[in-house]
Amino acid sequence: MYLQSVRPFIKLGLGIGALGLLSISTPAISQTSASNINQLSLAATCANCHGTNGVGVPNGGMPQINHLSSEAMLTQLKAFKSGARTGTIMHQLAKGYTDEQLQTISNILGKK
Ligand code: HEC
Repeated sequence: MYLQSVRPFIKLGLGIGALGLLSISTPAISQTSASNINQLSLAATCANCHGTNGVGVPNGGMPQINHLSSEAMLTQLKAFKSGARTGTIMHQLAKGYTDEQLQTISNILGKK
């Protein structure tokens, strides 16, 4: 009687345990801390136009940015933000980020 009423919960527990194992075995999740994920997702927004990690999109008509050093990239992003450099879109996008966020993005996407 007791076992019958508990059994569904045991099954549920095993199910959740299995799910836990699955997520632990996913390298991207186990090796990336929450703050890293936040930082990576900031840089990921650039991939829409500049390609994954800034490698560019074939015939995409967008500048490739992964050849720039982090420092050079940050300089350009700050120039867009301040209005010193104009563009079709980047001067608008850059204004949406704090200087710290631009630094983080440049560190991630800049040439290593
Ligand atoms: C909607 C498309 C789009 C997105 C999203 C975008 N860019 Fe751009 N980016 C451009 C375009 C177009 C240019 C050329 C300048 C202009 O017209 O604004 C450019 C130029 C640049 C340049 C100057 C490249 C050079 O050779 O001097 C840098 C650096 C850059 N983008 C970085 C970024 C970063 C970092 C992000 C993410 C935060 C980003 N871009 C997101 C379209 C985009």
